[in-house]
Amino acid sequence: MENVKNPFLVTGYLSPEYFCDREKETERIISAMDNNRNITLLSLRRMGKTGLIKNVFYYLKKERPFRLLYVDIMATNNMAELVRELGNAVIREEKERSANFLNKLITFLSGIRAKVVFNDITGMPEIEVDYRMPQEAEKGLAALFDYLESQKVKYVVAIDEFQQIVNYAEKNVEALLRSSVQQLTNVNFIFSGSNKHLLMSMFSDYGRPFYQSSDFMFLDRLDQEVYADFILKQFVRFRRTIDKELVLEVLRNYDTYTFYTQFMFNRIFETGVNNITRDLVEHVKENIMLEREYVYYNYRNLLTDNQFNLLRALAKENGFEKYMSKDFLAKYKLGQASSVQRSIKALLDKEMIYEEKGCYKVYDVFFSKWLSV
Ligand SMILES: Nc1ncnc2c1ncn2[C@@H]1O[C@H](COP(=O)(O)OP(=O)(O)O)[C@@H](O)[C@H]1O
Ligand SMILES: [Mg+2]
Repeated sequence: MENVKNPFLVTGYLSPEYFCDREKETERIISAMDNNRNITLLSLRRMGKTGLIKNVFYYLKKERPFRLLYVDIMATNNMAELVRELGNAVIREEKERSANFLNKLITFLSGIRAKVVFNDITGMPEIEVDYRMPQEAEKGLAALFDYLESQKVKYVVAIDEFQQIVNYAEKNVEALLRSSVQQLTNVNFIFSGSNKHLLMSMFSDYGRPFYQSSDFMFLDRLDQEVYADFILKQFVRFRRTIDKELVLEVLRNYDTYTFYTQFMFNRIFETGVNNITRDLVEHVKENIMLEREYVYYNYRNLLTDNQFNLLRALAKENGFEKYMSKDFLAKYKLGQASSVQRSIKALLDKEMIYEEKGCYKVYDVFFSKWLSV
């Protein structure tokens, strides 16, 4: 805790001290890995999947002899880029372990158009791949997996934002990965992503390559009481005071949504005020709104009037049931049910709203607050 100035993280992961709960989930994932099963982790965006993976890795690193690879494939667009990311994860993990792993890796990659190069600036080895050759990328993936297989150790490979593979230029990625994943005997995977519908169908539709190849875990909100105690503890450690009731109020206000809660408390903590009052919380909240207003006005321009009005109605009602009543439509002058349905679909596609337990909600909780005043 020495160097930590603010215990409310909004990016990255440090240690379990700054990570609230998720104990059962962590155990479940570790157990799946111990028992040679793959697992798929799903949740809304910014609910804590990446954090959970990092928390799992924290314990695995301490307690198991496994080698751990983490790749976020959000920014990848094709197989070659996937190979590059995976290759770089291998390098990150192994560079300190064995002196001759690079030679081995180079041997495995030779014969395909991927090679290890040294970054000019950092001097670190990196994988370089030739993007113009899709078949080469396939071989590259096979070569990397061969390399993993050749090692007499167990690997845990976490692929974050996994749904991205359906956007790849190549259309056979799902099938290809599936067969590799099945063949590997010393590697288990954690697939993680937030596009629930897409991932669910990838893993549960009969006929899709990943059918029944993995356990599922849906990551829900943190328990409000547990989260409140965690937050209190962080303030106490820094000899600050805040009322539990006030903490709970913020949690209720932000729907116990992990990212928005962390962000609020990060900003509250930042004020340096020792005794946190309701007025201070209000003040911080207003500042956040003001900062973001520019972005929110811009959203206005990206949406049709109908979409925007619907969004505001959903914000004001703090979520609304899927099957909207005539009263709801009339109250917010939303017009025909059919055009509302179209707007719903557009807003879902743009990921401005999400559906949860039969309710539509605005994804960005701060935006939702802004819309509802
Ligand atoms: N259990 C937790 N305790 C404290 N902070 C968390 C927890 N889970 C996630 N966070 C924080 O919330 C934010 C969003 O979490 P993240 O893991 O990035 O979500 P996701 O991967 O689902 O989009 C991050 O800033 C992270 O530090
Ligand atoms: Mg994530």
